[in-house]
Amino acid sequence: MELHFITGNDNKVKEARKKLSPLGYEVIQKDMDPPEIQADSLEEVAMFSAEWVRERSPTPFFLEDSGFFVDVLNGFPGVYSAYVFKTIGYMGILRLMEGIEDRDARFMAVIAYYDGNEIHLFRGEVLGRVSYEPRGDGGFGYDPIFIPDGESRTFAEMSPEEKNMFSHRGRALESFIRYLEEGV
Ligand code: IMP
Repeated sequence: MELHFITGNDNKVKEARKKLSPLGYEVIQKDMDPPEIQADSLEEVAMFSAEWVRERSPTPFFLEDSGFFVDVLNGFPGVYSAYVFKTIGYMGILRLMEGIEDRDARFMAVIAYYDGNEIHLFRGEVLGRVSYEPRGDGGFGYDPIFIPDGESRTFAEMSPEEKNMFSHRGRALESFIRYLEEGV
């Protein structure tokens, strides 16, 4: 079965393929650049983008919105993660956290799937902490400064398969797959 993934982010596509291809789903990337509204939750952002795409391309697709949330910064950069990454980058986040011992953080992802009839949302989350310095050259975005719970390595020090086992995207994809396979 073909699944159209609406995204301009090749890394997200690679991670989705690692989970979906072995199950027989062919992930086809489509870059439509839907607007990302400013909203309080990833669900709202994903839903708005999915409705925008559905109006222009009524065939089934999925898209994903994700973010990096640092507890001591009250969830910043959160829904602004892409913009903050482009402006101050992960080094900017490390600077904001200089001298701070509470390093708790999480990644969250919300997948919106349009099945040709309605839009369904699937969420994934991974808890962890912000490292004191960037490490590793794999992955993308904030991966070099995020260490998931139970690990000492950052996401950027892991293989894509390992990252997928823990990651917010991996977990959202697992719920999405459960829905595709079992309807729940
Ligand atoms: P969006 O989902 O395209 O709006 O982007 C969210 C932003 O969060 C990305 O630009 C990345 O900077 C960051 N992000 C999302 N997922 C990940 C991830 O798996 N690793 C590292 N950074 C991520």
